[in-house]
Amino acid sequence: MKKIKKVVIPAAGLGTRFFPITKSIPKEMLPIIDVPVIQVIIDEAVKAGLEEVIIVNSRDKKATEHYFQADEDLEKMLLAKGQEDLVKLLKQIETKVKITFTYQDNPQGLGHAVLCAKEAVGDEPFAVLLGDDIVVNYQGEPAIKQLMRVYEEVNCSIVGVQEVAKEDVSKYGIVKALKMQGRLSELCDLVEKPAIEEAPSCLAILGCYILTPKIFELLATQERGAGNEIQLTDAIKRLVSLEGVYAYNFEGQRFDVGDKLGYVMANINFALHRKEYRKPLLAYLKEEIEKETI
Ligand code: G1P
Repeated sequence: MKKIKKVVIPAAGLGTRFFPITKSIPKEMLPIIDVPVIQVIIDEAVKAGLEEVIIVNSRDKKATEHYFQADEDLEKMLLAKGQEDLVKLLKQIETKVKITFTYQDNPQGLGHAVLCAKEAVGDEPFAVLLGDDIVVNYQGEPAIKQLMRVYEEVNCSIVGVQEVAKEDVSKYGIVKALKMQGRLSELCDLVEKPAIEEAPSCLAILGCYILTPKIFELLATQERGAGNEIQLTDAIKRLVSLEGVYAYNFEGQRFDVGDKLGYVMANINFALHRKEYRKPLLAYLKEEIEKETI
């Protein structure tokens, strides 16, 4: 069995749910306190033992690439001011893990974005993490690590799922499981953004996947689906009859950081888990809760 070493992060979308700020700042670069969303996702991948990150970027999103590049002039300036600690902080960004950029010109959906990483991935199983979904599991393993562990057992593609409210099923890829055994089940169907009455369950794909390289063949011939886009979910559905696909109900709290409220909640959660902010933030929140109106 080939080891999973690479993770693809699609990052070329327009981020329309987060307009107007995403007109000039890529949504992947919005801060969770002081690091961009994409760094939080990469940190989880590194914690899971993944060795190479492939970012599928848009050529217009220069800020994302700039963040990961060394800036010698800035480093020299900081050193001249005696701020070695800041240079060390910046150096960590480049040295944590190997980062490769590939491009999605003329975006045609998530499936198309993953297909753009075909050359960079090659003929091996790989992970996918979506920039909209941050999962925290402070006491346990990162969600993607949980999927990697399951891959070693089942040797098939796996989608990370969690239950969502019935009224939200039309926002997600929804799976139909054969029979859940604990957190794991083989799948018999997947539907991208179904209407409430057509959803086969409330188990939604939440931004993490392990995929076999067969997916590239299927994506290359995938017809457009929901939203007139080439959907990753539709290609995974075709994988079900060819190789089998599993769902894993991963452990951890997920934030939809592509949504404004979800993003604010993620920032509060991360701040509450930073020693220096926890007490003053809780005191402030308590004060706010006690006010009856705004
Ligand atoms: C994408 C996927 C969908 C998945 C969702 C999770 O949709 O197509 O299957 O459930 O991410 O966040 P998007 O949110 O990009 O429309």
